[in-house]
Amino acid sequence: VKAKMTVDKDFKIAEVDKRIYGSFIEHLGRAVYGGIYEPDHETADEQGFREDVIKLVKELQVPIVRYPGGNMVSAYNWEDGVGPKQDRPRRLELAWRVTETNEIGTNEFMDWAKKVNTDVMMAVNLGTRGIDAARNLIEYMNHPGGTYWSDLRRSHGSELPYNIKTWCLGNEMDGPWQVGHKTADEYGRLAAETAKAMRLVDPTIELVSCGSSNSNMPTFPEWEAKTLEHTYEFADYISLHQYYGNRSHDTANFIAKSLDMDNFIQTVIATCDYMKAKKRSKKTINLSFDEWNVWFHSREQDKEIEPWTIAPPQLEDVYTFEDAILVGSMLNTMLKHADRVKMACMAQLVNVIAPIMTETGGGIFKQTIFYPYYYTSVYGRGIALSPVVHSPKYDSKDFTDVPYLDTSVVYNEVKNEVVIFATNRHLEMPLQVDIDIRSFEGYNVVEHVVLEKDNVKATNSLKKEQIKPHYNGESYVQNGNVTTILPKLSWNMIRLN
Ligand code: AHR
Repeated sequence: VKAKMTVDKDFKIAEVDKRIYGSFIEHLGRAVYGGIYEPDHETADEQGFREDVIKLVKELQVPIVRYPGGNMVSAYNWEDGVGPKQDRPRRLELAWRVTETNEIGTNEFMDWAKKVNTDVMMAVNLGTRGIDAARNLIEYMNHPGGTYWSDLRRSHGSELPYNIKTWCLGNEMDGPWQVGHKTADEYGRLAAETAKAMRLVDPTIELVSCGSSNSNMPTFPEWEAKTLEHTYEFADYISLHQYYGNRSHDTANFIAKSLDMDNFIQTVIATCDYMKAKKRSKKTINLSFDEWNVWFHSREQDKEIEPWTIAPPQLEDVYTFEDAILVGSMLNTMLKHADRVKMACMAQLVNVIAPIMTETGGGIFKQTIFYPYYYTSVYGRGIALSPVVHSPKYDSKDFTDVPYLDTSVVYNEVKNEVVIFATNRHLEMPLQVDIDIRSFEGYNVVEHVVLEKDNVKATNSLKKEQIKPHYNGESYVQNGNVTTILPKLSWNMIRLN
């Protein structure tokens, strides 16, 4: 099977905002307790943070981490998590029906974020709370001092303000499962007034208005239109969330689900721009895809978990090879929309539907999905280019005209490097791709990294990493043309300079 593409320096989409390689830590399952934080672990640092986790998070070069939720934030009292640990209350955490000890809270998380070199995107509770809690939190976090909340922060040991720039106005408020679920108008009004108060405290912040919890919500995309009616003038971004699964074991259909993501993004862009026209606004709302991943493996086992326990193993999907293929294509999809998707968070980062998995009291391993995330985050920085692609196509249960070749391209002008991310969706045949790179004269192949495996259900574990990349990809350059062979069902990164 053969495909063709042209990559040209001038076909620019936009500069990639590195924040599209963000991730997410929620107080959920073993993400915090037993994940990033485990004071008795042999690698724990002086604050109880696992250094083996810190090392892998740093490897991923995660630029921003969303915190503290997720569904959890909609019934969270942020004040519970600050101040002397012995005074912090234990609470029933309603979203996941566990006990929250509040041993870790905002200040500790900010310390951890510093250790892994990342910024924090903070969500405020618009479920059970609203304007008052949000304005107090931002005063606590961002105001230098001399007022009640900022001085309280200083008394808690953080002399300087954190200056958190990006704030989420609630989480999935369209979802009936959300504590404090709201109609679009109820949410829109509350979000707008909360945004106004937060901006009065700190005019330099950026705000994310809640979009739909996924594209299958019955209220999508009316939710976007109605809420933006209220929040347009205050928000900079609208959020998108989407998880995919393969319960029917239909690999060809599953790996095509990034087409659905593409459609979702296009619809949200259209809705934002409709509102822009309606409001005669000069401002463009960008997209924050702040929850995305594969999530389905753990759904059944989670029903067995005893309520009100502390940090039970919830949402611990063990990822397969085919999951990594879809994750690679989801990253490609966001790169193809680099002009509008400015932030994104792989949900989540450690243990909970995550690329990094730990054993409490034990080791750590990289899940299959770690690899496309790692390579795209580390090498996908620069200018996203729009290649012209001619690929044979197939039909699957939910999709028609699925290109076998799924690709995105990033040109790093500083490093003089062109990086091609390419997936072959063909389940049986290798794909030969001829790539015209004449505008990159003199460029040669530096490496061709391949993720491939015969068994689509193969997983990694503490004992064995069955899925990891090799560097023996076949690519060579001749007369301004790269010829590359993408093995059957494989994810590839071809780096040229
Ligand atoms: O990431 C897991 C959960 O998925 C989040 O808490 C919620 O926002 C979404 O439904």
